[in-house]
Amino acid sequence: MSEDTSPQELFEAAGNAMGKAYAPYSKFPVGVALRADDGKVYLGANVENLSFPQGWCAEPTAIGAMIMGGGKKITELAVIAEKLALCTPCGGCRQKISEFASPDTRIYLCDDTGVQKTVTMAELLPYAFETDILG
Ligand code: THU
Repeated sequence: MSEDTSPQELFEAAGNAMGKAYAPYSKFPVGVALRADDGKVYLGANVENLSFPQGWCAEPTAIGAMIMGGGKKITELAVIAEKLALCTPCGGCRQKISEFASPDTRIYLCDDTGVQKTVTMAELLPYAFETDILG
């Protein structure tokens, strides 16, 4: 598959993931599809909870799937929300993605027709928390 078809493939996969969101409280379904260094695509959706703070975003669902599937690094990631075009990952999710990304990892922001904007990890999370002290 060529580089050019990859964002479209991730857009479609993110839309399918969004269809599995469990978002009965916010009614704000979000889907994520990421490609990892193993070449596989991993999916995630938000999973809410009656005890509201216990719910989580689509991004950690996808990251957990990647880790359990054997992926180690995120090479590109698409995010889509049913009710918000170009939905960006929340602040906490930027940090979570950053753990497994590099500064030039591409993040695809979508609407319901496709990828509308591409940003890098460095653009999404400038001045990221980084230190050698913690290893
Ligand atoms: N949400 C995500 O899944 N990812 C984000 O980066 C933004 C917010 C979810 C969390 C919650 O289930 C719903 O969107 C409304 O905040």
